[in-house]
Amino acid sequence: MPANNERAPDSSRVVRNVTEFLGDWKRTATCGELTASGAGSSQTLMGWVKSIRDHGGVIFADLRDRYGVTQVVFRPETLPGDQMEQARQLSFEYVVAVRGTVELRPDGMRNPDMHTGEVELLVAELKMLNRAEPLPFLPAEEPSASEELRLKHRYLDLRREACQKVFALRHGIYQSVRKCLSEEGFLEIETPILVRPTPEGARDFLVPSRVHRGKFFALPQSPQLYKQLLMVSGFDRYFQLARCLRDEDLRADRQPEHTQIDLEMSFCSEEDVFGVVERTFSAVFEENLGVRLPVPFPRLTYDEAMSRFGTDKPDLRIPVELADLTEASSTSGFSLLEEAVKAGGRVACLLVPLQLSRKDIGELETLAKAQGATALFWARSSGTDLEGGVSKSVGGALQKRLLELSQGPGTVLLTAGARAFEAAGAVRSGLGEKLRPGDSAFRFGWVKDFPVFSWSEEDSRWEPTHHMFSMPREEHLEFMEEDPARVRGRVYDLVCDGVELGSGSMRIHSPELQVRVMKVVGLSLEEARRRFGFLLEAMRFGAPPHGGIALGLDRIVMLMAGRDTIRDTIAFPKTTSASSLMDGSPCQADEKDLKELGIKLV
Ligand code: AMO
Repeated sequence: MPANNERAPDSSRVVRNVTEFLGDWKRTATCGELTASGAGSSQTLMGWVKSIRDHGGVIFADLRDRYGVTQVVFRPETLPGDQMEQARQLSFEYVVAVRGTVELRPDGMRNPDMHTGEVELLVAELKMLNRAEPLPFLPAEEPSASEELRLKHRYLDLRREACQKVFALRHGIYQSVRKCLSEEGFLEIETPILVRPTPEGARDFLVPSRVHRGKFFALPQSPQLYKQLLMVSGFDRYFQLARCLRDEDLRADRQPEHTQIDLEMSFCSEEDVFGVVERTFSAVFEENLGVRLPVPFPRLTYDEAMSRFGTDKPDLRIPVELADLTEASSTSGFSLLEEAVKAGGRVACLLVPLQLSRKDIGELETLAKAQGATALFWARSSGTDLEGGVSKSVGGALQKRLLELSQGPGTVLLTAGARAFEAAGAVRSGLGEKLRPGDSAFRFGWVKDFPVFSWSEEDSRWEPTHHMFSMPREEHLEFMEEDPARVRGRVYDLVCDGVELGSGSMRIHSPELQVRVMKVVGLSLEEARRRFGFLLEAMRFGAPPHGGIALGLDRIVMLMAGRDTIRDTIAFPKTTSASSLMDGSPCQADEKDLKELGIKLV
């Protein structure tokens, strides 16, 4: 809010003699540039009035643009009367141009925290470029307005320095990616936006065709099929900063429109893809944050990630891992665990080197239950003894194992059942803040060998875990039809600090194998031909072995900028209910347009 002597926006004031044209005025410096070395020079600045103070006839204003803030001074002695009058009428976010002389600020008035803090511009000429009506909120660095209001007037919120920094970073990332991948021999090629549906597990946004009534394009969920076709064309190494559109439930890290660094390579191995991505990320982090990433990133199989961390996107900063205590629990004397094991479940354990309070444990139990655990069992360990919680219930081999594992005082946490590891993984993630060291280093890792198929309870069928174009491991092909759950694929994710940054795979390049995989996920040959005939046909005309990956650019910016949501990294994001508060989209279509498209709403 305005400081005491700062003037609040006032709608009743009428500004006369507003000049709105630049004429022959030329900006000579930005608002972030002038320092003591420029003292005495004449300069022309243009920008927004960030704040304004009237000190008994002399007016001080902070002028802001995307480069910084410069203090400008309007004095009656140096400014013509009518312009002084205009200066008196200035208010928040007015757009002005000022010409004047750079002067050193008097002693005691310098601001060492500001790049331009040693100087001010003594204004000799003021040109009012545009007024601003009273704003719904001021683009202050600590925003007090609700997110809703800020999204409605996103263009104002984006004036904040913190927002502008995010987009400068985003721009820098684009440049580093383009430079690095070009040097690696990748060609940037655009794929179409009006496409046949490209399945990535979400719903499609459909676009009706006017020319072909009753027919629809889809907006691409990803360029997946097109990048594979480019490999058939012999482009060998392709990339694109691709916009992807998915009608899916939104979360902090999901938007209906997102951008991927999408790439594909021919005649490559998984390690070739990992190498390209590691070099790209090294360049991106070094050039934009000055951070050196340790490469190569560690590689984990999916099974290993699940058993050590209980999740396929582990936060490798958290220095504790899960232990499998299924066997020891089967004769523990603790009936709840014994029964869970008898029913085919497992028991996962997390040893936390902290004395957790009952309240902490209650909160962690909520996380475990959300993952399907019936309870979170706990006991305190002194290193040599167990006490509290279930300490009296566990005996035998389990007690021995727990004491062996706990290397000092702490808390033992146990989950049991079919999803014991997922539940313990959620508890581990929930403890992240408490357990990871203060320095939030970026800890990358590859998770590979994902299951190719996952069972969908909802649809009672096998679904592709990644997408149906991923190559199963050769040695698992033999049981693909009989036991799809066992099939691991040449499918990988890039994770960083518990966030899935990217996903990719080696692709199927044989039409026969592609049809087999489609069959497992419930597509008949006719359906496969109807939906993907063009791809199957291309595969018959000399498709090379190929593979690739797509990296979620918005998530990368989010991590690098230290944000909690990708909304902050997208210039005009949607709300969690997939609408734009700013332009009011989606909106109703005109009757005339619908008629032309042959669409009737029901
Ligand atoms: P996938 O669907 O896993 O793979 O997407 C790749 C990466 O894109 C990001 N991402 C998203 N970011 C924001 N909002 C969303 N709604 C969203 N959906 C995905 C994630 C994710 O890891 N065609 C395959 C890639 C391939 O196989 O090459 C694909 O799109 O960071």
